[in-house]
Amino acid sequence: GRAAVVIVAAGSGTRLGHGIPKALVPLAGRPLLAHAIDGALGSGVADRMVVVVPPGDTELTALCRGYAADGVHLACVFGGETRNESVRAGLRAIGPGVDYVLVHDAARCLTPAAVFAGVLHALHAGASAVIPAVPVVDTVKSVAPSAAPGIAPESVTGTPERAALRAVQTPQGFRLGELLRAHEAAASWTGERAAAVTDDAMLMELAGSEVFVVPGSVEALKVTTPLDLLLAEALVANGYE
Ligand code: CTP
Ligand code: MG
Repeated sequence: GRAAVVIVAAGSGTRLGHGIPKALVPLAGRPLLAHAIDGALGSGVADRMVVVVPPGDTELTALCRGYAADGVHLACVFGGETRNESVRAGLRAIGPGVDYVLVHDAARCLTPAAVFAGVLHALHAGASAVIPAVPVVDTVKSVAPSAAPGIAPESVTGTPERAALRAVQTPQGFRLGELLRAHEAAASWTGERAAAVTDDAMLMELAGSEVFVVPGSVEALKVTTPLDLLLAEALVANGYE
């Protein structure tokens, strides 16, 4: 079956704080989005791509046009206010004849080819949903407002077993028809229910689908804060791309 990659790049990058869309922020002199597109293309998993950019954007759109002019089968569409809406816009723009989709964050611009390949391999083996993930290094606690806010505003309600936890990355892979159905079902959600959707696999979990887990990579870090960008610069400078 044929596969497509959807790269979501429609976020504003508030936490990075550059005052421009995060996908446009330079890493080693080139926009994050260029690294992300090159990584997806270089992995060889898909021959067509949809890039989702901020509504009204012209600069990332121009970057995409450059790839299209070079013969890459790449479409560019406008995203929405939430990541979820942006993914939906990307899925709707995939043309006919595609069986699998890999949904990828532009912000995970240094994701190794082996991660893309691992996700696609699991799809070919029969999975409807696949996510790359890595072990969690920190102990994770759940918290709630404390009984004595004068001491501290929050206190601990529980400690999930760390060995059973994973930090989840992208690309997340799906049978296209099933992910589209799950996304269309969530399209009308509002408020807290909509805000609680933080990845695509979650929608498949809610639909009762088994979500398989394959190895991710520390290099697939999501560039979110200035510290992450510093780390990404160091990775590129040390030949990790
Ligand atoms: N994204 C998107 N559309 C949105 C929000 C996010 O396409 N409305 C994309 C981002 O471009 C990014 C990925 O989803 O590639 C992960 O989101 P995140 O790291 O949160 O990026 P931003 O939303 O841009 O950053 P911030 O939350 O700090 O503003
Ligand atoms: Mg965000």
